[in-house]
Amino acid sequence: MNLEKASRTKMCGTFSAADAGKHVVVTGFVAKYRNLGTILFIDLRDRTGILQLNFDETRGKELFAAAAKIRNEYVLKVSGTIRLRGEKNVNPNMSTGEVELAADGLKILSEAETPPFQISDKAEAGENLRLKYRYLDLRRPSLQKILLTRAEIVSATYEYMTKRGFLNIETPFLGKSTPEGARDYLVPSRVHPGEFYALPQSPQLYKQLLMIAGFDRYFQVVKCFRDEDLRANRQPEFTQIDIEMSYAEKPEDVMKEAEGLIRAIFKRTLGLDLKRRFRRMKWAEAMSRFGSDKPDTRFGLELCDVTKVVKGSGFSVFEMATKRGCSVRGINAKGLAGMTRKEIDAFQEVVREYGAKGLAYIALKEDGVSSPIKKFFSDEKFRALVSAMGGETGDILFFVADKDKTVFAALGALRLAIAKKYSLIDESTFDILWVTDFPLYEYDEEEKRLNAMHHPFTAPVPGDLKYLDKNPLKVRAMAYDLVINGQEAGGGSIRIHTPALQRKMFEKISLSEEDINERFGFFVEAFRYGVPPHGGLAFGLDRLTMLITGTDNIKDVIAFPKNQAAAGLMENCPSEVEPKQLDELKLKVDADA
Ligand code: AMO
Ligand code: AMP
Repeated sequence: MNLEKASRTKMCGTFSAADAGKHVVVTGFVAKYRNLGTILFIDLRDRTGILQLNFDETRGKELFAAAAKIRNEYVLKVSGTIRLRGEKNVNPNMSTGEVELAADGLKILSEAETPPFQISDKAEAGENLRLKYRYLDLRRPSLQKILLTRAEIVSATYEYMTKRGFLNIETPFLGKSTPEGARDYLVPSRVHPGEFYALPQSPQLYKQLLMIAGFDRYFQVVKCFRDEDLRANRQPEFTQIDIEMSYAEKPEDVMKEAEGLIRAIFKRTLGLDLKRRFRRMKWAEAMSRFGSDKPDTRFGLELCDVTKVVKGSGFSVFEMATKRGCSVRGINAKGLAGMTRKEIDAFQEVVREYGAKGLAYIALKEDGVSSPIKKFFSDEKFRALVSAMGGETGDILFFVADKDKTVFAALGALRLAIAKKYSLIDESTFDILWVTDFPLYEYDEEEKRLNAMHHPFTAPVPGDLKYLDKNPLKVRAMAYDLVINGQEAGGGSIRIHTPALQRKMFEKISLSEEDINERFGFFVEAFRYGVPPHGGLAFGLDRLTMLITGTDNIKDVIAFPKNQAAAGLMENCPSEVEPKQLDELKLKVDADA
């Protein structure tokens, strides 16, 4: 056979016993070679799997000699006959484990140097080295599988959204700042020296303008850019499945479409049939029971409000909770009274990270109560507190007293830390729920003003409009987040569509007339020319992929991610640029400033 001209029959991982006897051509990377003297085995790898090649000296000395030169990661084109391995050589761990290729032709398409690390699924090399040689790291079957799943999610999205009448329309990357609450990435303009574009934190304004333009339903799988502190589930550039629809007047209108999409994605990628209607939970309930607006409800450890019970206890720390907006709440860690002092101290550190000043506890041990706060209580008050927490022998009760916001953040984090430490989470299920009825505003302590909790285009719940002037913190938003396994997978809202209300919203968050005109003038103006009621949401594609593939590292789901310091280690970016480029942009860099 002339291997120069022949092209691949099919991919490595797709061969099975049904192909036995066929003469074929295969291509791929060398994952492994074993030379037994007169027989040489090679594992040939492509993104579909591995096929075992068998070079036998008895089938040709020249071919065998050529094959003996092959090393790991060489790229090959090989012809031969697929044959059954025979029962005792079958490898049940490989999809192609019943067959092998008896090679009769070889062309080395590319030689390879010894890679800087072994390409194995276990990822033994350090992360920095793997990120530097990302294209080699990406050869790992586990990463390939994740990116294949990501592609499946995207293709299911296009299919479902198109079927539901959503149009895929692109929006600019070079635009103006939109208020999603993070810092912008700026791009200097050469044509307009001293002026900048902002890369979009999301296409929020554009997608609303597409509704005003009459496109009715829009979707886009789109890059968003946010310069914020990175965490395990955040990247500076990430991807949204962004959706907007006209004539959505209540959250349910959007949530229904979004549920359909999530169901289609889970069906396609995992073969799972999610139930028709996801659970709903109001924000206030999520906070009071779980201390979080993205509750992981796969385990208990719910919060319990004991503010009233501890009133008059005489314990000064708890007395502070009688102040407005403060409380004492606790978590009953059932059956965990045996934890060590060191473990309790570690949990104390967890709550301190979230601003709590301390972590009081009552350990109800077999041999008596161990608690640094027992001495402050009368026997009666102490019993009432334990009973309010449902405390029984063997339990340990934790308490935080502070401003509600701090108490929720601290106990919400403590809950997760305890569940993780003692493996209380059932990882076998997906816990999916909508959190609804968020507050429209939150109070910005630093700037001493109100801020939009979602973004300033979110519409208030109509019935709450009456509080807008007197008690704005009481106003709820027509906003919703989809929470999966305690992660915010997506969020959105019904939008304001009347100019007067939009203006009022801007005023409430202390934007001056000048700010409004400068930042959103074009947007506000559009509201004068007929606006269908509309709403939408955006899913984080990276987070969805993490949840579906079961990884907790966002870098695993992005082909070329940034590291924790927002740097690309492979291409070495960000980096300095030529002075000529700065001159053209009329920019001067003062690195010491
Ligand atoms: P929001 O800011 O909630 O809403 O973003 C939507 C979803 O995007 C994901 N996400 C991120 N993923 C990875 N890295 C990040 N840095 C990051 N930031 C956000 C989350 C989040 O739920 N325009 C609105 C949507 C709307 O109202 O329609 C918006 O951007 O999964
Ligand atoms: P102290 O009297 O300050 O030593 O505190 C007694 C106990 O209460 C210690 O275990 C502290 O960790 C705990 N504690 C202190 N401040 C708080 C708080 N704001 N909320 C809950 N527990 C606290």
